[in-house]
This record gives sequence, C-alpha cells and structure tokens, in this order.
Amino acid sequence: MRVAVPIETFPGERRVALVPAAIGPLKKLGLEVCVESEAGSQAGYPDNAFAEAGAEIVSDRDALFSADVVVQVRSAGANRDGFKADLARLRQGQIVIGMSDPLGDAGAVRDLANSGATLFAMELIPRITRAQSMDVLSSMATVAGYHAVLLAATKLPKMFPMLMTAAGTLSAAKVFVIGGGVAGLQAIATARRLGGIVSAYDVRPAVREQVESLGGKFVEMELETDSAEGQGGYAKAMDEMFYTKQRALMAEVVAQSDVVVTTAAIPGRPSPLLITAEAVQGMPTGSVIVDLAAERGGNCELSQPDTELTAHDVTILGPTNLPSEVPFHASQMYAKNISNFLHHLVSDGKVQFDMQDEITRETMAAHGGQVTSSRLREMLELEPLEKRVAEQTDRSDDPPPIRLDEDASAETKDN
Ligand code: NAI
Repeated sequence: MRVAVPIETFPGERRVALVPAAIGPLKKLGLEVCVESEAGSQAGYPDNAFAEAGAEIVSDRDALFSADVVVQVRSAGANRDGFKADLARLRQGQIVIGMSDPLGDAGAVRDLANSGATLFAMELIPRITRAQSMDVLSSMATVAGYHAVLLAATKLPKMFPMLMTAAGTLSAAKVFVIGGGVAGLQAIATARRLGGIVSAYDVRPAVREQVESLGGKFVEMELETDSAEGQGGYAKAMDEMFYTKQRALMAEVVAQSDVVVTTAAIPGRPSPLLITAEAVQGMPTGSVIVDLAAERGGNCELSQPDTELTAHDVTILGPTNLPSEVPFHASQMYAKNISNFLHHLVSDGKVQFDMQDEITRETMAAHGGQVTSSRLREMLELEPLEKRVAEQTDRSDDPPPIRLDEDASAETKDN
C-alpha cells in the first residue's frame, strides 16, 4: 500500500504531514511512502532527508494522488480552496487522513464522501487515553499555546521577568490565561519560564490543580461551575446569564494584567465571548491580548482573525495558524500522531475498518459514498445511517449497499 504526502496548499501553511523519522517505522508496517517534492522544505525537512529515510520523491501531483492513502495537514474544510482543486484527484476506495475542520465545514466532508474516498478527520480522534498519541488537536494546541506567549512577549513594551539591576528594579509582567486546556496549560508553562507572574481561569474545576502544578495561580470567581464539564473532559456551553456574570468578574482580573492569552473553547461551537471592549479599555496602556480562539469568533470582542490591531492602547492579536509558525516541531508532532494512527489502522499491510473500535469509528467522517459520522449527518440534515441501512435491509434480501469495509460501493451517495 502506498501512502502519499502532498505539499500543503493552504496559504501560509508551512507544516508537512510526515517527517523523515516517520518513514522507517511505516515501511516496517508494510507501507511505501511517496512525498511530493519540496513538501517538507518549509518545515526544515528537505527532499534528500525524506529520500535517505526511504521515501520516494514525486514531482507530479496527479501521480502522487494515485496512492492508496493520502496524508495531509489540511484537507477538506481545513483548506477549502486547495481541497476543491484536489477533489477531482480523489477516487473511490482511497483514504484521506488529515485535519478537515469537519464540525466547521461539514459540507466539505460531504463533497469528499461523494468522491467515494474515505476520510479520517483527525480532529475527531476521541479524547481517550488510548488515543492520546494520535491527538493532533492536543499536539497543535501545545505549539500554539507556547507561541502565543512568545508573540505577546515581543509585542509587550515590558520584559517578563522581575529584574533587580543597578539601574533599578523591573517588576514582572502579569499574565492572565483564560482556558486551561492544552493550549492554555502550555501558555502558562511558557509564561512562567519567561518569568511572568501567571494566573489562569477555567470553568472546569479539575483545571485548578493543573494550573497550580505549573506555578500559576487559579483565579477564584463566584460562578456555579459544577456542571461545566461535559463529555470527554471538554467544557459544556453555559447559558447567557453565566457568561454575562463571567465577563463582569473577569474584567477585574483583565484590568490588572499586562498580557491576556485567551484559549476558551467549546467543541463544535463558537468561542464564548469573555472579554468585552469595555474590559479592554480597562487594561494598562501597552498591554497585549492574544486571542487563540479568533478563528471561531474569538474570546475577545475586538479581536479579528489574523490581524494585529490596537484598541484603547492595547495590542490585540488573533492568529489562527500558530502551529505553522513553528513548523519543524509542529510537523514532528503531527507526523507522530499520523504515524500512530496508521499503526492503529493497518495490519497485514492493509487498512482495517474495524467499526467496533472507538478510535476508528469516531474518526471516520466519510466512507463508501456516505458521510458516516452521526454528528456530521445531523449537521447536514441527513437521516441517521443506521436507519437507512435498516430500511434498505428491510426492503430486500440483498446485503445493504452501505458497507463499512474497504470495497464499499459508492452507489448510495448523499447528495
Ligand atoms: P481545549 O478544549 O483543550 O481547551 C479549551 C479550554 O477552554 C477548556 O479547558 C475549557 O474548559 C475552557 N473553557 C471553555 N469555556 C470557558 C469559559 N467560559 N471560561 C474559561 N474557560 C473556558 O482546547 P485547546 O486544545 O487548548 O485549544 C484552545 C483554543 O486554541 C481553541 O479555540 C483552539 O481552536 C485554539 N487553537 C488555536 C490555534 C491557533 O493557531 N490560533 C492552534 C491550536 C488551537
């Protein structure tokens, strides 16, 4: 079986889906890897490094896409325009593995399904212990949390550490991190390493201990958060009354901070608005906000995706692709996740569609001409797959046309 690594075509994307160190273990698994020429060069992995590791370098994108499996950093909805250009290259029975923004753009998953190819959307990897080594969102959030603090540090007209010098004493920068998930915890750790005084808040009570273990102070707020944690350790959406109260309480902490890094997220929902324009106005002159949630509407009322702006003498950044700013290590981590996922899927040199397995089942977004994820079917207003299978089975003695195996027919496309 051949695995292809194309050049990423999303504007500004510098990561690559596999790195040379991943090639050897994949070959041992019985896979051949071909890499589009220059696919890794922006991340610091030149063609010769891939070739030395045993990959074939291919210059023709059409030839590359003839592979059985295509692995990408950004596929489907995560690279809408580039994906459109590649769609005609996909075919029935082929497998695409990559980040696809399925919950943000379910329509792109349907387009891919109509090609007859299978999509494993890496964002759908369940957050369970067994799947941790494949969790690309965690890997990329680690990089984003780290880089957000470095960005803030370069924009802040102050230094982070407390310094006692012959020219006087400099006070340490006060950093407030909102949301203590993967990105938030890495932001806390990075700000601490730089010498900042760090405080943090999260609606999930379990986060307190993690914040404190990194040397941050967990901010107390009079909010009822006992029910804030939902399935899989993610936060649940709260009602508007809760957020109104939170914004008011948070404004006091924001007003005392030199740097605010916001990472609050609820899966599949717009980011909660937590910092109002008024709260920004209350911040010291020269302070910096880095809103990691800008792509999903932002945690700060004034942030704009991929824009640096100044409002009320506060610098506000809304970067949406920070992992691409640290492409060497981001690619290394991503490649490890993808490689672990391939190890999970492949046995005897072939992909096994074991639908009893939670990781395979939850991550599969499209297969055999169908959008298979029930969450995505609901978003697309398609009837549940189980119901369709049952009805089709009732109507005929023939095997149901929707088969979750490698040879599934594309006859029953969702249109
Ligand atoms: P996560 O789901 O692990 O963490 C989000 C945290 O926000 C959770 O701990 C949750 O409890 C918390 N939260 C939810 N509502 C809250 C509220 N009202 N107040 C305080 N905390 C609240 O997500 P992860 O992986 O840490 O990512 C964080 C954000 O960073 C996401 O929006 C993600 O899309 C974004 N991200 C941005 C990147 C970029 O380049 N801008 C790259 C990677 C991630």
